[in-house]
Amino acid sequence: MSRAKDVADQPRAPKPARRALDAHSRLLLKRFIADWIQPRWRQLAVAGVLTAALAVATGAYPMVIKFSFDKLLAGDVSWLPLVLGVIMAITLARSVLLYFQTVATQRIGLRLAADMQSTTFRHLMNADYARLTRDTPGRMMSKLTNDIQFIQQATLASLNSAMRDSMSVIALVGSMFYLDWMISLVVLGVYPFAVVPIVTIARRVRRNSTRTQAQLGGMTSLLAEKLGATRLIKTFRLEDYASGRMNAAFEEVFRLKLKGVAVKARLEALLEALGGFAVAGVILIAYWRISSGASTVGDFMGLTAALLMAAQPLKAVGGLMARVQEGLAAIESIYGILDEKPSNTDRPGAKPLVVKDGAVAFDHVDFHYGDASIPAVSDFNLAVGGGRTVALVGRSGAGKSTIVNLVPRLFDVTGGAIRIDGQDIREVTLGSLRSSIALVSQDVTLFDDTIRMNIALGRLDATEDEIVAAAKAAAAHEFILAQPEGYATVIGDRGVRLSGGQRQRLALAAAILKNAPILLLDEATSALDTQSERLVQQALADFTKGRTTIVIAHRLSTVQNADLIGVMDAGTLVEVGSHSDLIARNGAYARLVRAQLLSDTDAAPPVGVPLN
Ligand SMILES: Nc1ncnc2c1ncn2[C@@H]1O[C@H](COP(=O)(O)OP(=O)(O)O)[C@@H](O)[C@H]1O
Ligand SMILES: [Mg+2]
Repeated sequence: MSRAKDVADQPRAPKPARRALDAHSRLLLKRFIADWIQPRWRQLAVAGVLTAALAVATGAYPMVIKFSFDKLLAGDVSWLPLVLGVIMAITLARSVLLYFQTVATQRIGLRLAADMQSTTFRHLMNADYARLTRDTPGRMMSKLTNDIQFIQQATLASLNSAMRDSMSVIALVGSMFYLDWMISLVVLGVYPFAVVPIVTIARRVRRNSTRTQAQLGGMTSLLAEKLGATRLIKTFRLEDYASGRMNAAFEEVFRLKLKGVAVKARLEALLEALGGFAVAGVILIAYWRISSGASTVGDFMGLTAALLMAAQPLKAVGGLMARVQEGLAAIESIYGILDEKPSNTDRPGAKPLVVKDGAVAFDHVDFHYGDASIPAVSDFNLAVGGGRTVALVGRSGAGKSTIVNLVPRLFDVTGGAIRIDGQDIREVTLGSLRSSIALVSQDVTLFDDTIRMNIALGRLDATEDEIVAAAKAAAAHEFILAQPEGYATVIGDRGVRLSGGQRQRLALAAAILKNAPILLLDEATSALDTQSERLVQQALADFTKGRTTIVIAHRLSTVQNADLIGVMDAGTLVEVGSHSDLIARNGAYARLVRAQLLSDTDAAPPVGVPLN
C-alpha cells in the first residue's frame, strides 16, 4: 500500500481504521482487564484447562471419521468395536467437560457482575448527596442492572470465544491440515476477507449500544417514576398519559435493540455465507484431489466434518468484536460512576467532632444549589445555644430546609461557616458529625421492612425496649400495636400502607432512638392532625430538653415556646426573637401568625397576638 493512498484516505477517515479499537477503547479495555479480570486468574486458569481439554476432544472427531471411512471403503470391519468405543469415549468426555467448562466460565461472568454491582453500589452510596440527587434513581438502577449485564455478557462471550471457540477452531483447523493441508489452505483463505466488515460493523454496534444503554436508563427512570406515582395517576386520571409516555419509551428501546440485532445479524449472515463457500470449495478441490489419488474419501469426509463443526465457533469469534464494543460502552458508563470522587468528605487530618453543649453557630452562611443563579441562602447568621430550641419559620421556598440540610453536610456551604461548639463542620470527620445529628426531614422515607426495623434505623443495635420507648416518645406506640402484626408488621415500599402522620411518627421515633445531641426537625409533624401533633409535642418536650433543637414548623402555634424564633425570607433571617418579642414588634412574624389564624381555625390561638 503506497503512502500516497494513505494520505488520500485521510480526509474521509480521520482516524485510520487500521485498528479494530481506538486508543481510548484500548485503554479502557486494559483497565477493565486489570481491575476485574486479572484478579480472577485462578478461575480463568481452571476454565482454560477445561476448555483446552474440550477442544482436544472436539478435534479428535474428524480423525475418527476419516479413519472409519477409510476402513469402511476398504471393506474392513475388524475396527468396528474399537471405533465405536472411541466415539463413545470422546462423546462422554466431551459432555462431562462441556458441563464443567460451562459452569466454570459462567461462574466467572456471574461473579464479575455481582462484584461490579456491589462495588458500584457502595461507591454510589458514598457519593455526594448532591451527585445522588442529580441523577434519577431509575437511571442509576439501569446502570447497576442493564449496563452491568451487558458487561457480563460481553465478558462471557469473550471468554468463550477466546478460549473455547478459538481453541476448537485451532484444533479443528489443525486436524484439517493434518488430513489435507492443500485443501485446507485454499478453503480457509476465504476467511481473512471477513476482517474489514467485522471491524466496521463492530464500530456501529458500539454507537448503537451507547444509545441503547442511555435509552434503557431513561426507560427505567420513567418506569420508576410512573409506578411510584400511582395515586396521582389515578386521581388525575392520567392512565392514558402515563401509558402513552411509557409506550414511547418502550418503542424507542425496541427500535434501538432491533437495530443492534440487525447490525449483528449482518455479520452472522456474512460468516454463514463464507462457511457455505468453504464447504463448496472443499467439494470442488476434493473431487480433483481424490481423482488424482492425492487424497482419500476418508480425508474428504473428515475435512467436511471439521469445517461444519468449525462453522459455529468461527461465527462466534467473528462476532466477538461487536460484543466487546457493546461491553465497552457499558464499561465506560460504569467507570463514569467509579471515577467520581466525592467532594464533601473528610479533610486530611480531620478530627472527630467533640460535642460539649451542642451549640450550633451559622456564621455568614451562603449557599446556592449546583448551577442555580439565585442563592438559596445568603448571609445567614444565627447562634443556637447549646441545649436550646430554635424555630425557623417563613414562607415556603424561604430556605429553611436548606439551612437544616447544611448542618449534617448533605451540602457544603459555599460561603461562611457552620460551627458546632466552635468546630467548623468541614474540619471534623463526616462520620462523627452525622452521628451527632438526628434529622427528620420533610419527606419521610421508610424502607420496605418491619416497623421495628424502620425505627431501629436510628440505631441498628438498639434493644426491643429502647425501640418501644422511642415509639412511645413519638406517640407511635398505640397505632403500631393496632397494626396486624404490631412491631413486626411489614409496611411496604416507602411505607405506603401507613398514613402520612403515622409515617412521620415512625421517622420521629427513629430520630429519638438515635439519641443524638443535636436534633433537626424539618416540618416533622406537618402531616399530623392538631391533636396528634399536640401529643407528639408533649412527648418531644421531654426529649428535646437539654438537646440542641432546630425545628421548622409550618403550624406556628407549635413553635411559640421555642427559646428563639427566626423568620426567614429569600434565604436570610429577617427577624429573630422570642414569640412575645416578635409579636410585640408586629413585623413579619406577627403577619405570618395573623395569616395563619385566619386560615387555620383548628389551631389554638397563640397567646397575645394582636389581631390586626
Ligand atoms: N435540590 C435543589 N436543587 C436546586 N434548588 C433547590 C433544591 N432544593 C431547594 N431548592 C431551592 O432553594 C430554595 C430554598 O428551598 P428550601 O430550603 O427547600 O425552602 P423551604 O424549606 O423554606 O420551603 C428554593 O428556591 C428552592 O427552589
Ligand atoms: Mg422546606
